[in-house]
Amino acid sequence: MQSPVVLRRFREEDVEEISRLEAQCIPDAWSVGLFRDFLKDQNSIGLLAGLGDKIVGFCSVTNISGEGEVNNVAVLPSFRGRGIASALMEELLHQGEAMGITDFTLEVRVGNFPAVHLYEKFGFVSEGIRPGFYRNPTEDAMIMWRRGPRGQ
Ligand SMILES: CC(C)(COP(=O)(O)OP(=O)(O)OC[C@H]1O[C@@H](n2cnc3c(N)ncnc32)[C@H](O)[C@@H]1OP(=O)(O)O)[C@@H](O)C(=O)NCCC(=O)NCCS
Repeated sequence: MQSPVVLRRFREEDVEEISRLEAQCIPDAWSVGLFRDFLKDQNSIGLLAGLGDKIVGFCSVTNISGEGEVNNVAVLPSFRGRGIASALMEELLHQGEAMGITDFTLEVRVGNFPAVHLYEKFGFVSEGIRPGFYRNPTEDAMIMWRRGPRGQ
């Protein structure tokens, strides 16, 4: 990727902008309060992608006994298709493994083709469907896993 995108952990002062970003991208976005609570959790990693002084994307994972729940991945609409989510995911998986996560999991709307493609690119495979899991609009969730060497 040729653009000067910088990846770093997000902090308290980034939370309001990240919350606004997520609200533009995902129907059930986290509140500012949820992001603040998230930052207090030592078992979680939140990464942002910055371009100049603008936050253009972010993602996060929570480590639960070696299993990493990827909570959210989002890139502002006008910055999509240039590898920003891929760069975020690569770094998130790397940092997650460094904190002891062996298997990563997430849920995604079955019809969210860009996200499913992104996750498959990083080795996630579907292991099940949760019917009608999402609201507004109602849609099935695909449960995806990326299992490390011990989980395969
Ligand atoms: C999913 C999302 C994060 C991808 O961000 P992005 O920065 O555009 O992703 P990238 O540019 O890194 O592309 C990732 C892969 O997805 C593919 N992709 C991107 N848009 C696509 C589309 N509309 N259809 C199919 N594949 C697509 C890319 O081609 C790329 O694969 P490749 O490297 O094999 O070409 C972005 O679309 C988004 O924010 N969507 C709304 C929020 C969301 O749905 N998050 C997931 C919730 S589970």
